[in-house]
Amino acid sequence: MLPTLLAAALPLLVSGSPAKRATVPSELFAKEIPAKVSATASSVMDTAPNFSYPHTTSSNSGVWQLEVADWWTSGFFPATAYLVNARAELCGATADNGLDAADWLALGRAMSAGLAPLEDHTTQGHDVGFLSFPFIEELKVNPDNETAKTGVNKFANALAARFNPTVGCTRSWDSSDADEFQVIIDNMMNLEVLFQSAALTGNDTLVDIAISHANTTMANHIREDGGTWHVIVYSASTGEVTAKHTAQGYSDDSTWSRGQAWAIYGFANMYAHTGITDYLTTARRLADYFISNIPSDGIVPWDFNAPTADRPADTSAATTASTGLLLLSQHETDDSLASKYSDAAIQILSDTTAFAWQPSWNSILSNGTVNVPQGNSRTGIVYGDYYYILAGTELVNMGLASC
Ligand SMILES: *[C@@H]1O[C@H](CO)[C@@H](O)[C@H](O)[C@H]1NC(C)=O
Ligand SMILES: *[C@@H]1O[C@H](CO)[C@@H](O)[C@H](O)[C@H]1NC(C)=O
Ligand SMILES: *[C@@H]1O[C@H](CO)[C@@H](O)[C@H](O)[C@H]1NC(C)=O
Ligand SMILES: *[C@@H]1O[C@H](CO)[C@@H](O)[C@H](O)[C@H]1NC(C)=O
Ligand SMILES: *[C@@H]1O[C@H](CO)[C@@H](O)[C@H](O)[C@H]1NC(C)=O
Repeated sequence: MLPTLLAAALPLLVSGSPAKRATVPSELFAKEIPAKVSATASSVMDTAPNFSYPHTTSSNSGVWQLEVADWWTSGFFPATAYLVNARAELCGATADNGLDAADWLALGRAMSAGLAPLEDHTTQGHDVGFLSFPFIEELKVNPDNETAKTGVNKFANALAARFNPTVGCTRSWDSSDADEFQVIIDNMMNLEVLFQSAALTGNDTLVDIAISHANTTMANHIREDGGTWHVIVYSASTGEVTAKHTAQGYSDDSTWSRGQAWAIYGFANMYAHTGITDYLTTARRLADYFISNIPSDGIVPWDFNAPTADRPADTSAATTASTGLLLLSQHETDDSLASKYSDAAIQILSDTTAFAWQPSWNSILSNGTVNVPQGNSRTGIVYGDYYYILAGTELVNMGLASC
């Protein structure tokens, strides 16, 4: 029955009144963004020389909770200062747009200083990809900065040391059972640091590791319907898959929305670096799943399959997916799909802004979910804000918005 029903429904959808097209929300370029980044940077700078960085806000008052430098999210805020610097270069820094509020590059550099010691002794294991973000940003501004180069290379080698050729992946969480080799979908985001370091050093082994990790993930993490498992467990000694389950999602069979967002971005990025067509088709499948599973209210839930009653949203999944969709759109070889994915990104940003733009909070957005199983949702999140700002800037770069 289903195919017939679908076939009957499709022409109606296509020939009916054209879908309402979302417009880019003006909040993406509002003065509140640089004002909040500047205020947060002051509180980070107050903690020098032992820096602390924002991760999440308290859920009711929207006040940032600072974390020590040795934490997986601490790279995002210094990297945010670099994003605002790039925005100021692109749009001009004026009192009107608020981008004249600080010397963003100086702030990004000063706040990054607290991260450099981590390259030799982080306890964050696989999360070195995120920790390297401000160093990658510094190299876009000054390709000769030795501190930043060293940071990228050491973080990349730390990740490479977690690669197991039998499995074909880098290890995510460590386990007390040495044969239990866990890989989370989030780790598609780490692969960028391998490409960056390979470009600096010419060490192509790092690229080979990235491709192997992506291929193995493509084979095992993605379901028929384009949804994803959060955690795949391999045997470290044989490389066989021994379990597929969730850690942060609703159930082993559900699709955790932020994992799906990491995957969209990760595979679009792999395609951008390698031109391997399978990465493009995989990114499309992941994107199509995300887009078609957003409920009609436009609110991205923390897990697409969690029961709808009192289901928290996850605005960080929404903004990460938006940025991933824009990256996919930029590299898409089919023009109509390129428009489809950028339109979807704009729709998600518009719907997310409508319910989660939060002028009275320290964070830009509310309604992020850090971890439902740990009881942590309805907060601001530093990486949700980071991808929100990045999406706005990319829309300008793509000619789809003006500053
Ligand atoms: C910074 O941390 C180090 C090591 O924990 C400690 O010895 C030092 O007193 C701290 N400095 C400040 C200003 O808190
Ligand atoms: C070089 O980069 C590091 C880390 O990103 C930064 O802390 C430092 O200020 C930069 N140095 C200069 C001279 O710009
Ligand atoms: C390239 O990177 C790999 C992985 O970190 C490392 O084992 C190897 O020694 C590096 N090669 C060179 C020539 O530095
Ligand atoms: C990765 O996958 C691509 C495309 O599916 C294939 O061409 C390539 O040989 C694979 N590389 C490795 C190391 O598995
Ligand atoms: C957004 O968060 C507020 C609390 O900060 C909550 O009252 C509201 O229900 C949340 N909205 C959604 C759609 O989750």
